[in-house]
Amino acid sequence: MKVLVVGNGGREHALAWKLLQSPQVEQVVCVPGNGGTANLADCQNLPLAVDDFVGISQYALANNISLVVVGPEVPLAKGITDYLQAQGLMVFGPVRAGAQIEASKAWAKALMQEAGIPTAKAAVFTEAAAAKSYVQSQGAPIVVKADGLAAGKGVIVATTIEQAASAIDAIFQGQFGSAGEFVVIEECLFGQEVSVLALTDGLTIRPLLPAQDHKRVGEGDTGENTGGMGAYCPAPIATTELMARVQTDVLEKAIATLRSKGIDYRGVLYAGLMITPEGDFKVLEFNCRFGDPETQVILPLLATPLLDLILACVEQRLAAVPITWHSGAAATVVAASGGYPGDYQKGKVITGIDAAETAKVTVFHAGTKLNDQQQVVTDGGRVLNVTGTGENFQQAIAQAYTGLKSIQFEGIYYRRDIGHRVLSAE
Ligand code: AMP
Ligand code: GLY
Repeated sequence: MKVLVVGNGGREHALAWKLLQSPQVEQVVCVPGNGGTANLADCQNLPLAVDDFVGISQYALANNISLVVVGPEVPLAKGITDYLQAQGLMVFGPVRAGAQIEASKAWAKALMQEAGIPTAKAAVFTEAAAAKSYVQSQGAPIVVKADGLAAGKGVIVATTIEQAASAIDAIFQGQFGSAGEFVVIEECLFGQEVSVLALTDGLTIRPLLPAQDHKRVGEGDTGENTGGMGAYCPAPIATTELMARVQTDVLEKAIATLRSKGIDYRGVLYAGLMITPEGDFKVLEFNCRFGDPETQVILPLLATPLLDLILACVEQRLAAVPITWHSGAAATVVAASGGYPGDYQKGKVITGIDAAETAKVTVFHAGTKLNDQQQVVTDGGRVLNVTGTGENFQQAIAQAYTGLKSIQFEGIYYRRDIGHRVLSAE
């Protein structure tokens, strides 16, 4: 079987890598892919944009592609699934109506309220004055969110009323693009965040192992927010008891409410949870796709062939397919370009990737590409995800850092404390 993966990040490299371990998958085509998918055996890149639906469908139909797996949220929110399905292609990823659960925070909040899913108290506004007077009445800290997709930048956790007011102005002035029509103002929650990615066929929904990522650029979880500097799995804070509550109070309610709206949601439903110090939880957000970098630590632990699970979702028979896991733990450390998440340079030659890879270390590429001499060079802020596995976190994290020692490029930056919480607990 030939599978087409849409996207170009570490997540898509991990998806392609894992799919190629499924016995039925002969070949993967990544659109557009990166330096890692270009060098992966039985994988090739196709230089099309992720929202070039016509180009993707023409290629897939002409080249015997049996399944399309969509990585990022942008093409899902633009309706890639609806378009490709109408051409007769099999697609993993929700239809456009379902992708609203990530693409519109106001829509997602209304769905959570309707479904009775625990979430932060919130109100939605269409103009600045009303939003500001609500902020005055609630006080700070308070969270201000632009409504639409803003590449992770549309959330401002305001520590003062003034900061919240300027965030409201920035959103209505269009600084987050089309995400500027509504603003969601939300109660500020405190605790630890955990990512629960679940697979669903529209009827059955089953969680994957819970993961945690490190969002801040600096050690000790300080400094600016990023797309994620590292992650680990399975997150011990999400106990079996907590996961059982997430299943009934979040996942099943979400899928039943989507179904009641006539939305046949098949793909990944990712719940970002805040776990309070008392052990309660609330949903911060839903995403309509695999997480990045969570996928890079979840998939190495998955024992069931990924293709079997994806096909079971698409063909609505997930209830019959068990999800099994390898024991142990996985951790990934992001090697970033110096300066990220601010300005950074691209095009630096990367060496040592082959030397880093062992049975316990896999290097998933994020912002890389091949240059004209077929060398792997940096091509983004987050460059590589060096993933280690082991019997416990200590081993998994040590493997990732051992792998990193071999890898070099000018300006390489990575956090040295990924997994500090689980290591001190272990
Ligand atoms: P979202 O895209 O809604 O998950 O927001 C991105 C990030 O903003 C989350 O991962 C949290 O770190 C933070 N955040 C969002 N909502 C809240 C909230 N109600 N309280 C505290 N932090 C939040
Ligand atoms: N790791 C956060 C995300 O994928 O949205």
